[in-house]
Order: sequence, then C-alpha cells, then structure tokens
Amino acid sequence: MWHVRGAKVPINLKFHLKVFSYSTGTGKPFAAIPTPRCLPLIGHGYLFGPGGGFSAEKLTEAVYELSTRLGSVFKLRLNGEDIVITVDAYDTRELFRHEGRYPYRPTFPALYHFRQKQFRSIGIVPGNGAEWHRFRAAVLPLLRPAVVQAYAARQDEVAGRLARHIRALRAADGLLTDVFQFLLHFAVEAISVTSPGEVFPCLRDDGEAREVVGASVDFMDGLYQTLIGLPLWRLYRTAGYRKLERSHAVICRILEKNMKEMKLKHERNPEEVKKMHPFMASLFENPTLNWDDVVMLAMEIFLGGIDATATTLTMTLHYLSRDGRAQERARAEALGSGDVQHAPYLRACLKETLRLSPTAGANSRYLAQPALVGGYSVPAGTLVSSFGSVTSRSEKYFKDADAYAPERWLRGSGEPAHPFASLPFGHGPRMCPGRRLALQEMLLLLRQLLRRFEILSADGNMNLGMVYRMNRIPERPVHLYFKDI
Ligand code: HEM
Repeated sequence: MWHVRGAKVPINLKFHLKVFSYSTGTGKPFAAIPTPRCLPLIGHGYLFGPGGGFSAEKLTEAVYELSTRLGSVFKLRLNGEDIVITVDAYDTRELFRHEGRYPYRPTFPALYHFRQKQFRSIGIVPGNGAEWHRFRAAVLPLLRPAVVQAYAARQDEVAGRLARHIRALRAADGLLTDVFQFLLHFAVEAISVTSPGEVFPCLRDDGEAREVVGASVDFMDGLYQTLIGLPLWRLYRTAGYRKLERSHAVICRILEKNMKEMKLKHERNPEEVKKMHPFMASLFENPTLNWDDVVMLAMEIFLGGIDATATTLTMTLHYLSRDGRAQERARAEALGSGDVQHAPYLRACLKETLRLSPTAGANSRYLAQPALVGGYSVPAGTLVSSFGSVTSRSEKYFKDADAYAPERWLRGSGEPAHPFASLPFGHGPRMCPGRRLALQEMLLLLRQLLRRFEILSADGNMNLGMVYRMNRIPERPVHLYFKDI
C-alpha cells in the first residue's frame, strides 16, 4: 500500500491519481524550484570544488544530501546550464512521458567530434535526433530473444572458462583478490562472442588481452574526463581526449581485422553467418549502413557494457558473499537443470544488485515538451536528471531499502515495486539495447560460479560504495574466497 496525501490507496490507483493531479492545471514557476546558493560564472560548480562539501566522484551521495535539504526536486547550475534534478519516481515517469520520439540525451561533444573526424561515423551514444535513430535502429536485433539466445552456448563456455581460471589462479585458501579486474576480462571475452563474433581470449594474461581490456577502461575514463570540467580538448589534445583516441585505435585495429574475415565468410555463406552471428549478419545486410558505420556500431556494442557488466557482477558476488541464505537459494536454482532463461531467483539477485548499486547514477533527458516536475512548470528543452541511484534506495518505494532482498522481485512476494523506482537500464526508445545480452551473460556466469564454489567475503567492511568513472564502479577492490563445494 502506498500513501497519497495521508490516505491509503491501492498502488495502481495511486499511480493514476498522481498522473491526474500532475497533468492538470498550471504548475508553480520554474524560478521557484529550490536551489542552493548560486555563484556568478561558476554557478554550483563550487559545491564540487575544494571546500564545497561534495565530490563529483560521489555524485549520488551529493544528490541524496541535497535532496534532504531542498526536497525531491531541485535545480543546479553547472557548466552554464540549469539542470533540474529529481529523486522522485512519479517525476521520473513525467520525464519519460515528455522525452519525445527521439529522446535527447546530454551529448558527449568530444566523442562526437573525434568520431566524426577520425571515423566519419558517430555511432549511437554521442548522437541525438534522426542521426541517433538511424544507428539505434540498426542495433535493434540485439533485443530479439532468438538473436540473444543464439549466443547463450558460447557465452556459457566463456563463463565456464572464467570459473576454471578462478580455480587455477586463486590462492591455496581460495582467496581471489580484486575480482573486478577478472570480471572486466570476462566481460570483454563475453561480448566478443557477439561483436565482432570471434572470441577474444581475454582470460589469458597476455599482451593483447591486456591491451584490449586497457583500451575499454581508457574509453570510459576518456569519456568522463572530456565530459566534466572545461572543454579544453577543443584547444588541445588533453589527456582525456588522447585516451579516447588510443582506445578507439586499439579496438578498431583488432575488431576490423576480425570483421573483414567475417564479412568474407558472410559473402560466401550468408546462412551460416546468420545462424552463428545473427547480430553481425544484420549489420552486414543493413542497406542504411556503410562500412564505416558497421565498424563503428560493432565498436559501440563491444565497448557499450564492459564495465557495467563487470560492476554488476562484482557487486552481486559481494552481496551474495555477505548473505549465506540468498547464496544458498541462488545455488539451489543454479544446480537445477532448468534453462537459464527461467531462473527467477538468479534474475532477482541481479535486479536487486541493480536496485542497490545501479551502474548509471541517473537517467537524463532534454524535455521534448513542457512538463510538470514536482509540481513545477519546466519548459521544453530543459535538462532533467532523474537520480535513480537515490530513488531506488528510498524507503518511500522499497521496504528495508538498504537490505539486499532478492525475494522482493519474485512474483507473488507482495506489492509490485513502483515501475519507475528502479530503472537500471533506462527507459523508452533510448533504453539500453544490450540489456538482454548482458542479463543472459551475467546469469550464465552466476550459474557457473555457484555450481562450483561457495563464495565468501574476505573483507571486514560490510558496505561497498561506488564511485563515478563515467559509469559507477566499486569504490575499492573486492576480495573474495572461492571455496570448492
Ligand atoms: C549490466 C549491464 C548494463 C547496464 C546496467 C546498462 C545500462 C545502460 C543505461 C542506463 C543506458 C542509458 C539508457 C537510457 O538513457 O535510457 C544504457 C545505454 C546503452 N547501453 Fe547499456 N547497460 C549494460 C550493458 C550493456 C551492454 C552489454 C551493451 C552492448 C551490448 C550496452 C550497450 C548500450 C548502448 C549502445 C547504449 C546507448 C543507447 C542509446 O543511446 O540509444 N549496454 N545502458
């Protein structure tokens, strides 16, 4: 049961009431949205500078703290632009209702500039409008269940290899240090099954494997460094800009070699490639794409989810290592002979991790139409950021919000959660196109690990926070014991 203005209302009706009250009448003026003291020129940038009290690395905590002082909707002026921030699930729904047909996300100007100049093709992430839509339409096959399932057996082989790798590399007492690093290697090897289609054996520790993993980390760092602060990359090739250049050069060199071979194979035997590599075949056969676009999209899918996947797996293993009961229940399901597509408890474990520790701190859009956010009139063209990483930990939407309780996601476990209170893959036409592939890959790995090991924490500290590196990643190395069962 949820509460609306003190009354107890069934959950579905409450959502309806809220929409009704938000969609009628005029809101309070935009200028009345609460905001901290704003300084000339730098706006609220000082809050994240020396003595400002907050750090950009801990943006989620900063937004939480500001929301306790200012309310669930407030405004910040950063880099000369007003950003409306909300931590409310109802406002999040309003945001997505007004995102328009081609949702407009904050761009990555350095990435856009660099790709345009160097590759004559920009891909999905930095684009907007019709340009974004053309690329986005080309990766939609990734959301077809049959396409995703075509990769399951090969993803499972990669997962089995990681499990054997852990067995070989752990210490005599089962200790494996800095699990995130292993999972980054795993994520690269697992995505290479789909793009470019030829498996990169990243679990071995050789020069090329390290180069590829290093390039994917550089990509995220470069993206973040060119995004925050002043756009000095427009004047000279900053360290962040050079990371973008370096990462693309490495990934493109390795990917393009594989793709040329795959393209030849496709010319000779299209049916075989369609069966084994349905995503690559769909790119080769797409008449709206030239070769530059095909290479760019393959890179985009390759790079798109490496650290989000590695982070979600690291956090899940961390939570399970702390919760013997949840781990036992997950293991019971893993040991069953069922299809991984129907593994409700393992799936619930991942959903719960993504609720407590989402890799994306916020979902952001420039409004396509005016909207009422928190009862304020927000004009079209305004940037609104819904901080899901705060919302999904709120007692307003989840009972015992800080507890790891996968059961809450199981059918029949009580009231369903508010549909906009935890959106770890975003929402609407720009929602993550890799989510099905990522979930399958993560389910398969959890199953392989739980079948073989009891996983125990090697860390005295219960809490594991996250820091921003473009996506959020674990704030410190995670060490775990993998004991044979
Ligand atoms: C646990 C894993 C992952 C998480 C939590 C995640 C999360 C997200 C989120 C929150 C967005 C923004 C959505 C929005 O604005 O509405 C996104 C976009 C995107 N993701 Fe993922 N992702 C994951 C894995 C992947 C994988 C494996 C791929 C590649 C196969 C991928 C490719 C992309 C791409 C290309 C976009 C940009 C979409 C667009 O702008 O239209 N992601 N992801």
